[in-house]
Amino acid sequence: MKVAVITGGNKGLGLAQTKKFLAKGYSVHVVARSEGELAGVVGDVHFHGHDLSDWKDTSYLNAIHNQSGNIDVLVNNAGMHLKKPVWEVEPDELELRLDLNVKAVFRACGRFVELQKEQGGAIVNISSMGGLMALQGAAAYVTSKTAVIGLTRSVAIDAAKFGIRCNAVCPGFIITDMTRAILEKDPARRAKIEGRIPSGKLGKPEDIADAVHYLASPEAAYVNGVALPVDGGYIVGF
Ligand SMILES: NC(=O)c1ccc[n+]([C@@H]2O[C@H](COP(=O)([O-])OP(=O)(O)OC[C@H]3O[C@@H](n4cnc5c(N)ncnc54)[C@H](O)[C@@H]3O)[C@@H](O)[C@H]2O)c1
Repeated sequence: MKVAVITGGNKGLGLAQTKKFLAKGYSVHVVARSEGELAGVVGDVHFHGHDLSDWKDTSYLNAIHNQSGNIDVLVNNAGMHLKKPVWEVEPDELELRLDLNVKAVFRACGRFVELQKEQGGAIVNISSMGGLMALQGAAAYVTSKTAVIGLTRSVAIDAAKFGIRCNAVCPGFIITDMTRAILEKDPARRAKIEGRIPSGKLGKPEDIADAVHYLASPEAAYVNGVALPVDGGYIVGF
């Protein structure tokens, strides 16, 4: 059975990824601080409690590798937004975004390559549309998600010789429980966002999960180092 590790696979976009990989026959290891919405998920799913902002500690990957003997796929999905312009960001707020969104992903990529040098594998990092373009009032987030794309490219070219690929997915505006609650209260804002998206609608968590699964699969065997926007065409023009 193939093994996938999904950080933050307990809710939001990560939960949809967990369900996708389970449906495709993977054994899925979810790394997060709490079980979240995993309770209702059926399948070969394992929870590992870990605070990823403690970015130097990649012991969860060692434990999963010891247990499974192989990790086919690592999805670095856990991340945290911050809606503030650069002049309002406090040092500890910046530090947390860099620790969780960048340094933990950096260390996980490094550890994965060390563990999988003989067996190969695939890494998918979740960046954002904010990794490809600036988003108003989100300086720390944009900085962190842009770094994820540079990291992805570096891992892609350095680890290719071990049969390891590394790609990024850049989600656009995706409807999750959190964004649904906000947008339902503000239909005018929702209409404005949808009006800016060429496909005319917000994305679904499943749209992101499909892209992640594709990049991790053998069907993407010759795809390496890309930052794939999954955004209904938002990024390419207005
Ligand atoms: N929702 C969107 O529209 C959107 C758009 C672009 C990018 N993204 C990115 O997609 C990823 C998932 O976002 P989401 O919308 O599902 O967010 P979410 O807040 O619903 O989920 C975040 C996940 O990260 C995990 N997490 C947060 N802090 C953690 C920590 N310290 N240790 C361990 N796990 C931690 C949580 O358990 C959760 O599973 C993030 O990297 C986010 O930046 C989301």
